[in-house]
Amino acid sequence: MKHTKVKTLLLGEAVNKTVCVKGWVRTKRGSKNVSFIAINDGSTINNIQAVAESDSFDESLLKQITTGACLSIIGTLIESQGSGQKVEIAAQEIEVLGEADTDLYPLQPKRHSLEFLREKAHLRFRTNTFSAVFRIRHALSFAIHQFFNDKGFVNLHTPIITGADAEGAGEMFQVSSLDWNNLPKDDKGNVDESQDFFGKKTNLTVSGQLEAELGALALGQVYTFGPTFRAENSNTSRHLSEFWMIEPEVAFADLNDNMDLAEDFLKYCIQYVLDKCSDDIAFLDKRLADEEKNLPKEQKSEMGLTERLQFVVENDFERLTYTEAIFILRNSKPNKKKKFQYLIEGFGADLQSEHERYLVEKKFKKPVILTDYPKGIKAFYMRMNEDGQTVRAMDILFPGIGEIVGGSQREERMEILKSRMEEMDVDQEELWWYLETRQFGSCPHSGFGLGFERLIMFVTGMKNVRDVIPFPRYPQNSEF
Ligand code: 4AD
Ligand code: MG
Repeated sequence: MKHTKVKTLLLGEAVNKTVCVKGWVRTKRGSKNVSFIAINDGSTINNIQAVAESDSFDESLLKQITTGACLSIIGTLIESQGSGQKVEIAAQEIEVLGEADTDLYPLQPKRHSLEFLREKAHLRFRTNTFSAVFRIRHALSFAIHQFFNDKGFVNLHTPIITGADAEGAGEMFQVSSLDWNNLPKDDKGNVDESQDFFGKKTNLTVSGQLEAELGALALGQVYTFGPTFRAENSNTSRHLSEFWMIEPEVAFADLNDNMDLAEDFLKYCIQYVLDKCSDDIAFLDKRLADEEKNLPKEQKSEMGLTERLQFVVENDFERLTYTEAIFILRNSKPNKKKKFQYLIEGFGADLQSEHERYLVEKKFKKPVILTDYPKGIKAFYMRMNEDGQTVRAMDILFPGIGEIVGGSQREERMEILKSRMEEMDVDQEELWWYLETRQFGSCPHSGFGLGFERLIMFVTGMKNVRDVIPFPRYPQNSEF
């Protein structure tokens, strides 16, 4: 018999019909005479209950039904006698597809710590929290493609292996097929990279932006959505070594257009999840409230998860320049009382997460877009302002997250771009193809990068980026 998803069964449309459900046991309880088995198949946060009369089944079979076991159940869908669910299945046939040894199965029907579950990443999908997070991750991914498709963007698959360091930060994983125990050397005794697989030094991409710019300067509007890799040794709750980034790039767009696009985009994605994932959001909302129950007042969120998402959708982001932000920060209480770990002295300082959070969570209490950063702390490709000091950069800062988007208007003027590359020691020969776009039909254009996992953190209320990607990679961890 064909099986039906739990999500569909719970709609109750098949009442009094014979149905088949397949899934994994979340809990089994009951008495000598009857067992109540909660089954989940991942289609929804909710379980369906199957009721098995002990008389109808072998005792040995009922014994195999333990938390984690995989079952196929055929029975009649009936209106539930008990409270808590609308319908349940009166089981007639039960097949155990896969047993789960109770003594060894790591997931007990109780709350586990997220740290513990990270070590069981192959099984954590079976928990309510992670199944909700990963259904939402999927919904967001779908929303992103929908948003850009509706606007006529072309999805561009940029390379994962590249010779370029787009961000010029040098935080790259090298890609090589050389034998590390027997490296070819040149005359000077250095590793001879010309003998490597690609005939030169290559790395995993840190961003698809530079290639996306080539696309935009022909196709008009493009976006990438792919994995990016950073070998920065930052063991924080917001950094991964492998993360997914969405990078739109638009010809004929200036920084204001770029900010408008990013704000629309974020609001669209959040609204999409509010509309399509209400059960999962309701679950995570409650989860977050429970988690924060015992925190001191100043650490509690001011709004619940749903409320916070609605707030972001309904309110304009605050837009101000870096220089204005520095003025606010310099005169802020935590700066004057030396509460910031990094005190703000004046123009030029790189903003730390504590400063970003002050602006977003204390000062404006909503998402903030900071623009026009000093050239010294931003990448070579950002468009120089008239003042010769600041560039047309924008960072979007979110409550509880800090930077969620980084972008800019690009430097489309060849001479200025070249001199910036020189100043910042960026190899012009390596990027000859990038420079040629400025030589042949250059035009004003802009783009940004959204850290996919940071968006998922915000939408789900999860506090560690490692808990919103199926198999997180971070220093000293590449398991699974
Ligand atoms: O600010 P970033 O480094 O910008 C770029 O890579 C540009 N090329 C984007 C562009 O203009 N097309 O990274 C963009 C975003 C950040 O705002 C952050 O959300 C996320 O990527 N991000 C990370 N997310 C998880 N782990 C990391 N290590 C991240 N580094 C950046
Ligand atoms: Mg950035």
